Amino acid sequence: MDLSTGYMGLALRNPLVASASPLSRTVDGVRELAEAGVGAVVLYSLFEEQVRREAELNARLADAGTESFAESLSYFPDTADEDPGPRRYLSLLERAVAAVDIPVIASLNGVTPDGWVSYATAMQDAGAAAIELNVYYVPGDARISGRDVEQRHVDVLTRVKDAVTVPVAVKLGPHFSSTGEMALRLDAAGADALVLFNRFVQPDIDPEALAVVRSVGLSAPGEARLPRTWIALLHGRVRAALAATTGVETAADVAKYLLAGADVVMTASALLRHGPGHAAVLLDGMSDWMARKGFADVDAVRGLLAVPQDTDEAAHERAEYVSAMRAANRGVYETW
Ligand SMILES: Cc1cc2nc3c(=O)[nH]c(=O)nc-3n(C[C@H](O)[C@H](O)[C@H](O)COP(=O)(O)O)c2cc1C
Repeated sequence: MDLSTGYMGLALRNPLVASASPLSRTVDGVRELAEAGVGAVVLYSLFEEQVRREAELNARLADAGTESFAESLSYFPDTADEDPGPRRYLSLLERAVAAVDIPVIASLNGVTPDGWVSYATAMQDAGAAAIELNVYYVPGDARISGRDVEQRHVDVLTRVKDAVTVPVAVKLGPHFSSTGEMALRLDAAGADALVLFNRFVQPDIDPEALAVVRSVGLSAPGEARLPRTWIALLHGRVRAALAATTGVETAADVAKYLLAGADVVMTASALLRHGPGHAAVLLDGMSDWMARKGFADVDAVRGLLAVPQDTDEAAHERAEYVSAMRAANRGVYETW
């Protein structure tokens, strides 16, 4: 089965992409993902805190004795010590690019426009096929306006787009008053792809230890419904490619995202849960499903069940809600 496709102008052997995760923290990890068959790999993110920390360290070397130094470093999370710094990230990127024959996409995780540009450029110079901007910004200060949050996303994208020539994807969260308009604004600002959606860390509370538990949980397939709904709504309405991320566990989950209109489908949790070799299981399952359904290639699948172009989208969403609620009132509902 021919699964070849394109993503942001990159030629991919198939639309399954390993999204940013600890699996890509070493060259061997990236090689394993490539050998399992994925079409591209997104490296884990270089964090803005690491970039700033390295900059501060450099400044300290240049200006020993600055009193504010120790205090400002105390704002950084402890984990910054465990993470490799930007120079090691760039070295990993360079070696990973040389080690595999699929596109390697670098990921920058930050929130302020400053500091992104130089590292985005360095990532491009290190051979990144594209750059994914993981704009992780939870406006914890309740006085920050929605428009400010949106503008941060656009500003970061605009600065990086001005600085590099490789394609730039924006990975964003789902929590906007109007996610569709945010997507249109990023599209207009030149995003080559929108990666929907990042999952925000939502701390748990351990009532026995009386402690806050901060950890990243692996996703469940039911969580794919939110990004899939938005992909189905945005398909054909933005020039940017659409990358699906969250909740891919089986080949059926990949098929559902493509039917909704995704250009590529990303996976992290399933590969962490079952090992990188699970990519081959997903791809084999996709090929079997396409053969069974009579699809000759990925283009024939993509967007088949997207919200049709000539639809009043708001009315469509309202109708879906009313119909689902009517069914629920008759006792027809699903458990995820
Ligand atoms: C352990 C772990 C680490 C992750 N690290 C990153 C990261 O560095 N950068 C990023 O953009 N996303 C990161 N993610 C998010 C994933 O790339 C992905 O978008 C998310 O987990 C949803 O996809 P999934 O359901 O296939 O896991 C991480 C996810 C997990 C589970």
